[in-house]
Amino acid sequence: MENKIKVDLERVIGTIDSRVYSGFIEHLGRCIYGGIYDEGSALSDEHGYRKDVMEAMRALKPPILRWPGGNFVSGYHWTDGIGPVEQRPRRMELAWHAEESNRFGTDEFLRYCELMHIEPYICVNAGSGTMDEAQAWVEYCNGTGNTYWANLRRQNGHPEPYHVTYWGLGNEMYGAWQVGALNAEDYAKKAAAFAKVMKLTDPSIKLVSCGESGVADWDRVVIEQLARFVDFHSIHIYTGDNDYYRNVFAPHQAERALRICQATIEQVRYQQQIEQPIYVAYDEWNVWFRTGQEQGDGLEERYTLSDALAVATYLNIFLRQCNSVRLANLAQMVNVIAPIYTSEQGMFLQTIYHPLRLYANYMYGDALDVHVSSETHNFPAAKNSPRWTHDVTDLGPFKLLDASAAYDAATKTLAVAVINRDQEQAHATSLQFADASIIQGINVYTVNASTVDAINSFEENNVSVQEQRLDVGGASFSYTFPAHSFTLLRMHVR
Ligand code: AHR
Repeated sequence: MENKIKVDLERVIGTIDSRVYSGFIEHLGRCIYGGIYDEGSALSDEHGYRKDVMEAMRALKPPILRWPGGNFVSGYHWTDGIGPVEQRPRRMELAWHAEESNRFGTDEFLRYCELMHIEPYICVNAGSGTMDEAQAWVEYCNGTGNTYWANLRRQNGHPEPYHVTYWGLGNEMYGAWQVGALNAEDYAKKAAAFAKVMKLTDPSIKLVSCGESGVADWDRVVIEQLARFVDFHSIHIYTGDNDYYRNVFAPHQAERALRICQATIEQVRYQQQIEQPIYVAYDEWNVWFRTGQEQGDGLEERYTLSDALAVATYLNIFLRQCNSVRLANLAQMVNVIAPIYTSEQGMFLQTIYHPLRLYANYMYGDALDVHVSSETHNFPAAKNSPRWTHDVTDLGPFKLLDASAAYDAATKTLAVAVINRDQEQAHATSLQFADASIIQGINVYTVNASTVDAINSFEENNVSVQEQRLDVGGASFSYTFPAHSFTLLRMHVR
């Protein structure tokens, strides 16, 4: 069959919210200590922030950074991490069986965000933490009055409020692994109490309720109980599998979850006559299946080309579902299931870094409803991934080509992102444009390697971005997408 990708500039799905390119850092393994923060290292600035990491992160343009966890936050008392560093207590860290020195705390995080021009997103401790602690945290960060916590911030070197807008009401509170895990009803009661005092402290903040997968009963109960208090409902879904096709198609799980979760939100808004919009914050997502707490490996997942194709598939989904997912945080940014990998001497970029950078830099404006016709792939039999319980086989057969498109009307720039998930075959494809004529040729960015298992390391850089210029114009052209590749086509149109 002939593969076809049709793009019509008038078929707008919605505006791409750049907040879907946001990140997440947790006190886990070498994400903060040895990743973001390394006091005394020749690679760090005067504050202790690793400069090479800052540069690599800047190119990913994350608008928002979520912190300090993750599972870590459910046993974290933020007051341990402020004031003179030598006086901060060293604590047992129960989530990841570690010790927390507290050298990096609220002021170190918020100063980092200021330097990077990134908006902070703080998740509060709804496990061992109290409503008073959550209230005090908002007051410490945002308080403007002559009050205890605001004054303590001034005393600690920050006279002006930090204006932290985004606050999460706990992390994965449904999970048996979580310190202080609760059932949905008990969580909702606790979170509503937190929400109230946090909003009373600063009515301008935006709150995120703690969801599960978007399709669980937990999500329904929490949305019903908390919709009146929140601006976002969070979901977490990770995917990943040793089987190539399962790995690259598993992200379609997220597409279903976003649709179902937003429908639940709309039902509750309708029933409860809630005027303010509520969107999905997909505040932990990534490929993750090789590493884990049990392995004691600090979750230092080493990513392959196959994973980069899965990550690109996730990003296409976020663009297609741009009316529901308005915030998404890649978990995580450095060393821990991350695109940036450091040692004491340097760093390298993992495979997944490349699609992330290309989307954040080129996929903005309006998301367009792309028509794709391509051959499909069907799984031989339903089989769950060994790492994750969810299954995607019922969502198939899957098109081997997956595409999204972004049109920036201000600069008349069109970008089309195409993943060829076929492990064996290149696919000759006819690209056809309605309401648009290409001028001045096309920039083509390709992420590919000789095998789907290719990885990057300190020694070899097997997966990166190849750039070329293609001399085509008009309203259609043919392009052959290589086997197991990601391609971003960028063009000016009239
Ligand atoms: O990102 C790693 C962990 O995954 C986070 O701590 C937790 O929220 C999730 O289970």
